[in-house]
Amino acid sequence: MKAYIDKLECSGCLSQEEFALLIENHTPELDEYLFEKSRALRQKYYGNDIYIRGLIEFTNYCKNDCFYCGIRKSNHNASRYRLTKQQILDCCEVGYSLGFRTFVLQGGEDESYTDEILADIIYSIKFLYPDCALTLSIGEKSYDSYKAFFDAGADRYLLRHETADCNHYQKLHPHTMSLENRKQCLYNLKKIGYQVGCGFMVGSPFQTAESLAKDLLFIHELQPQMVGIGPFIPHHDTPFASQAGGTLQQTLFLLGLIRLMIPNVLLPSTTALGTIHPQGREMGILAGANVVMPNLSPVDVRKKYLLYDNKICTGDEAAECRACLQKRMQSIGCSIVVDRGDYKSAE
Ligand code: 5AD
Ligand code: FES
Repeated sequence: MKAYIDKLECSGCLSQEEFALLIENHTPELDEYLFEKSRALRQKYYGNDIYIRGLIEFTNYCKNDCFYCGIRKSNHNASRYRLTKQQILDCCEVGYSLGFRTFVLQGGEDESYTDEILADIIYSIKFLYPDCALTLSIGEKSYDSYKAFFDAGADRYLLRHETADCNHYQKLHPHTMSLENRKQCLYNLKKIGYQVGCGFMVGSPFQTAESLAKDLLFIHELQPQMVGIGPFIPHHDTPFASQAGGTLQQTLFLLGLIRLMIPNVLLPSTTALGTIHPQGREMGILAGANVVMPNLSPVDVRKKYLLYDNKICTGDEAAECRACLQKRMQSIGCSIVVDRGDYKSAE
């Protein structure tokens, strides 16, 4: 198995069969072998710097009905909210003073925010904070909408592909959604000029080593600047309430493989990872991740943006999370930097 890790490091990819074998057969010893390499690559490109992104969860209304997600439209127990433009700008102000230089606007697919409204919000944030990067994470839109947001000043876009296996995709989503459209959106975003992030949940229901291998091959094909992965965690009001969650070890192993495959990728150690283990985010960094995304949403709405159960930090002020993460990163020899945290191209 070590030979496969070496091969991945040298050539940047493996076959589907080789990836699947690694995923099925990794051991704690192999994990350590991988993490040494993935950490060294993170060091090579980003040193001990950890980039922070201020996450603003501005709406939990969603027209979609993904089977895994707590804010799916069929969840009538979800208490819905929307932030106004002013509330969003207030989050940015707090964030800027705490040293955030990237803001992420994330929300469900909520059509009450028209392209015009969103473009105005994007333009205003970039006007007030010209030294900041703005990331959008608002789902599937038309080419023209993506272009309008880009022209208004958005720099980056996160759209997890969720799974690169068609059959698996249909087991996680209703038939109104398709992997084909998801991929098309990602290619459109790239073409427009965004820094693009795809990704998936580790341990989602019906996932196999083979489907994970396809995820890795899709990432290799897309060559995104960012990859977001975290464990699947069941939400009690969804069809997947009683399914098993993803594991820490599997998530860390995949983080390491992704760092080896795209050495300069921007790779978050996610809140979901911090939710399944008290030191999950630190372990994610030690497996090769280099980004953390604390929450800047107003505390009174945080508990409402519940994609999965037991989400951490829903009661904490932005400043508390900032300080907490600083301490956590320092405990493993890293430090949070005041920086846009752009993708560094490979030399
Ligand atoms: N567990 C973990 N991650 C989830 N997401 C949605 N629901 C869950 C869940 N139950 C992830 C999806 C989505 C991102 C915003 O959150 O991958 O793309
Ligand atoms: Fe929110 Fe630690 S990051 S309290």
